[in-house]
Amino acid sequence: MYESLVNFVDYCNCITIVASRVNELRERRTLDDEGIRELLESDDESLAEELFRHAREVAVGQFGPVVWLRALIEWSNVCRNDCYYCGIRRSNRALPRYSLTRDEILSCCDQAWRLGLRTFVLQGGENPPAAEKLAETVAEMRASWPEAAISLSLGELPGETYALLRRSGANRYLLRHETAKPALYARLHPAGMRLENRLACLHHLRALGFKTGMGMMVGSPYQTTDDLIADIRLMEEFRPEMIGLGPFIPQHDTPFRDIPAGSASTTLRLYAILRLMLPQAWIPATTALATLRPDGRTAGILAGANVIMPNFTPASRRSAYALYEGKARPGAEAAETLNQLKQELDTIGYHV
Ligand code: 5AD
Repeated sequence: MYESLVNFVDYCNCITIVASRVNELRERRTLDDEGIRELLESDDESLAEELFRHAREVAVGQFGPVVWLRALIEWSNVCRNDCYYCGIRRSNRALPRYSLTRDEILSCCDQAWRLGLRTFVLQGGENPPAAEKLAETVAEMRASWPEAAISLSLGELPGETYALLRRSGANRYLLRHETAKPALYARLHPAGMRLENRLACLHHLRALGFKTGMGMMVGSPYQTTDDLIADIRLMEEFRPEMIGLGPFIPQHDTPFRDIPAGSASTTLRLYAILRLMLPQAWIPATTALATLRPDGRTAGILAGANVIMPNFTPASRRSAYALYEGKARPGAEAAETLNQLKQELDTIGYHV
């Protein structure tokens, strides 16, 4: 009896400590490693709820109950890299490779614009010559939609290509750092790829005037809480304008096919922690989270994310952009998907 009372008091103390961590993080916009560890690892879901509540209060305080939409156009799955986790890695011979033509890209933009989206995100495998050529299409996008934001996610490119893309009218660039720890980076990527280069690219992009995004997968193979804390510290220091992060999900044609997917709950906690640290950041509730959990998009928004990226890639190409298992859902028409999304957001009191 006495023992269970002591356990109960310990439990209450623990909850109080973690709850005060959330307050501290919200007030000071930072927290020590131990505090972050507790927020990431606590198995008390009511505490996670408390964390999410604070994060969404901060997001709503910054932006109102608003979700920003970005039109995702997966323009090409041709990639020179061989990242062990990624379905479009070079060594995956099972995948038909494609690149959208200029006309196809412009028609995706046109469709997105008509449906009210004002940011186009061109995402593709790392392919420097193709990226250079893409600058012409970017320039046409800029000329046709002067008010649109053009965001790129094309991997590590030569400095001149970044500069060319910037001059052509692109104004945002997302390059996930993947992990802040060189040792883990080396376990996820073949020799030749280096974290150092990736970080140099991010600095270069920012110097060119791009709004810059970084991020990582949650629960990638070998990743520990310490690694996630290092990711948080790196982003706290770099202060990216955008943060792209979602759970790792295995893909059957990669070396990591048998590794279990990352945790949706940890992903949501990271959205919340990063919202409290960087109140103004654009944080998408990612497709990977929505793949793992059907209510992933609304759960992400309720944990402090503020961006959703509906997919405008032509339906016939979607299955070939197979980064991970289950990603390519048979696509409904974009307009239909968008209406459904708006209804989902309405049920949680948000609008676009
Ligand atoms: N699971 C989740 N995300 C993945 N990515 C690549 N492969 C996977 C996977 N198996 C993410 C990486 C990369 C982006 C193209 O997609 O973080 O930066």
